[in-house]
Amino acid sequence: MDKALRAVSRMERIQAPIVAVVGEWIRQTPGTISLGQGVVHYGPPAAAIDAVRAALGSPATSEYQPVAGLPALRERIAAKLAAENGIDVARGGRVMVTAGGNMAFMHAVMATTSPGDEVILPVPFYFNHEMAIEMAGCRAVCVPTDGRYQLRVEAIASAVTDRTRAIVTISPNIPSGAVLGAQDLRAVNALCRERGIYHFSDEAYEYFTYGGVRHVSPGAFPDAVGHTVSLYSLSKAYGFAGWRIGYMVYPDHLDAAMMKSQDTILICPTVASQLAAIAALETGRACCEPHVRALAEVREIVISQLASLAPLAHVPAADGAFYCLLKVSTALDALTIAERLIREHLVAVIPGTAFGMSDGCYLRVAYGALQKETVAEGIGRLVHGLRTMLNGSRPQ
Ligand SMILES: Cc1ncc(COP(=O)(O)O)c(C=O)c1O
Repeated sequence: MDKALRAVSRMERIQAPIVAVVGEWIRQTPGTISLGQGVVHYGPPAAAIDAVRAALGSPATSEYQPVAGLPALRERIAAKLAAENGIDVARGGRVMVTAGGNMAFMHAVMATTSPGDEVILPVPFYFNHEMAIEMAGCRAVCVPTDGRYQLRVEAIASAVTDRTRAIVTISPNIPSGAVLGAQDLRAVNALCRERGIYHFSDEAYEYFTYGGVRHVSPGAFPDAVGHTVSLYSLSKAYGFAGWRIGYMVYPDHLDAAMMKSQDTILICPTVASQLAAIAALETGRACCEPHVRALAEVREIVISQLASLAPLAHVPAADGAFYCLLKVSTALDALTIAERLIREHLVAVIPGTAFGMSDGCYLRVAYGALQKETVAEGIGRLVHGLRTMLNGSRPQ
């Protein structure tokens, strides 16, 4: 290639999405069971598929539609936010439909920051959050969590500077599965209000909690509406990952900035997908619940089998999402272990370094994409593989 065309851009500094790297190793190693990608094994509800079929012939589906999303969908979302999340949009919030939760997060960063600003990410973080912050020319300020991956509110407070624009929380959490304590979320939300910064609350896994643990939406706390951006996704709850629908609710005063970002990047969300989303939300959370109950059984298998790895590895109890983050006692690095697990033991997990866990060896196990028997087989391989590898290496 002509040397002059070898563009050096902001992207050089951005980490490569790890799922693609692991995906390549999996392709090179047929027969691998993937406990890697954070997806669910089911697709959209039948009503959503029917709605798309019925809509495809209509010109409204192929024309541009309102930037913030179809009014009927935004109304449906507002009703859901009121009924399930305790968020009253009429008290100063706006709803925007996006092509997935990742895009909503990117808009939120673009709308609230200038280059050089800081956004606080508790670690482990979601890698696309870190990437979005860096792509916007801002700095992700990482703050450790405790041994159960719960927030350390004092450490977060100490990390706030004059350049801080937002604090991000994800509950239920990727990659740890932790459901963050309501008191801590309340404290972070209050801290944001006091310091004049935003609380970005990513709730993509809101329906995925186990053992009676309840999801809490920070946007419902008193006085939260003016500084809280709450982000949601249909990718997991409704099996919509490829149909790309997410949404967010944000304070009124961010509307002009959010609309500029959406208009430039997307113009409007895919109309057929929005019609599907209306039908999915009409079916409601009930269509996701049997899947969550089935995942609860899978989770039991995962937790009990991984517990047998002690003291070589330890996994704190996680009550949500469909992940757990294994802490492995080894001097080997997580990327090497992840590659060897695929090549030598035919099981894929994601190295914790992708989520900012660079102090020690961590592996993320995802159990949402597979049937129970396959997960059991995959976890069996993981346990056997780690025992084989770790018994040959010196523990840390
Ligand atoms: C916390 C979190 N937010 C957002 C997303 C992306 O969701 P979407 O497919 O709606 O962009 C993911 C996907 O893994 C996620 O884990």
